[in-house]
Amino acid sequence: MDDICILAIESSCDETAAAIVKNGREVLSNVIYSQIDLHTVYGGVVPEIASRKHIEKINQVVDKALKDAGLTFNDIDGIAVTYGPGLVGALLVGVSFAKSLSFATDIPLIGVHHIEGHICANYIENKDLKPPFMALVVSGGHTHLVKVKDYGEYEILGRTRDDAAGEAFDKVARAIGLGYPGGPKVDKVSKEGNPEAIVFPKAKVNDSIYDFSFSGLKSAVLNYLNQAEMKGETIVVADVAASFQKAVVDVLVDHTVAAAKEYGFKEVALAGGVASNSGLREAMEEACSKNGVTLYRPSPIFCTDNAAMIGVAGYYEYIKGNRSDYHLNAVPNLKLGDR
Ligand code: KG4
Ligand code: ZN
Repeated sequence: MDDICILAIESSCDETAAAIVKNGREVLSNVIYSQIDLHTVYGGVVPEIASRKHIEKINQVVDKALKDAGLTFNDIDGIAVTYGPGLVGALLVGVSFAKSLSFATDIPLIGVHHIEGHICANYIENKDLKPPFMALVVSGGHTHLVKVKDYGEYEILGRTRDDAAGEAFDKVARAIGLGYPGGPKVDKVSKEGNPEAIVFPKAKVNDSIYDFSFSGLKSAVLNYLNQAEMKGETIVVADVAASFQKAVVDVLVDHTVAAAKEYGFKEVALAGGVASNSGLREAMEEACSKNGVTLYRPSPIFCTDNAAMIGVAGYYEYIKGNRSDYHLNAVPNLKLGDR
């Protein structure tokens, strides 16, 4: 079979990214322009600023992806683009750009689900990984426990009822003065803290054992901080961070291992920005190996938003014959499994 090269574009949040992926597993280039510095002063992503910066950067980023791979449009078989979920204005930049490129070059267009991309990031460094397996998707906007039944076929076993795991990291980081982006900062200071210092509640959702809830934990951290302040006690930021991180990680690990056992999965994959959390990676590795489960974790660069993962997902859609037409639109609340 001839090689299939996918040019992928990702602009759902605050990373303008393009990549080229060969045969679904080999990343020929992976260009990420991160806007983090621009948004840091506001304490979070400002959607309008994100869209404008995507417009400024997208051309350069796509050009660089082609150059780094040493390819031209003549070598590209499909143009994959994230069309949801995400910020509507940000998504629209990638979608419009990809549609124009497809129209101008006659290369087929493939709309990709962002979360499917996160899951597919696991295929890049694990050439033997194939469905079925179970995935825990933990990002800034999503917390899903997913049965990956086949390429492009998913069943959600559990989801968050309120805040996503990454959102909880970001909110707690702000409350303890670490600022944005919160997840990596909490991860870093947690290494100096005692995770047993404060016992925060581990949220359970009674009517659905695999669902998650993180807003109660966030409130517990805020209450702890307020009470400590009222009593004039010193707050040890590293201890709060480590104890909070432990509470999140324990729930993620417990649910994942329990679901893997119940559904008989021997392979589990982590996905999404929070999957780069060192505490989660260690605890999940330990729990999986105790239970005879193999754990897959993409390198941190493929956990946070990137276009390589979109190229992988795009490849599997491409070989199934799935194509999008020029009516492809940004769908900010696209559900996993919808096409
Ligand atoms: O997947 P992602 O890049 O974007 C979304 O699709 O949302 O995830 C971003 C989220 C943010 O909430 C960020 O704080 C979190 O992932 N994150 C982390 C770490 N690195 C990124 N959370 C905990 N520990 C980390 N090391
Ligand atoms: Zn993401």
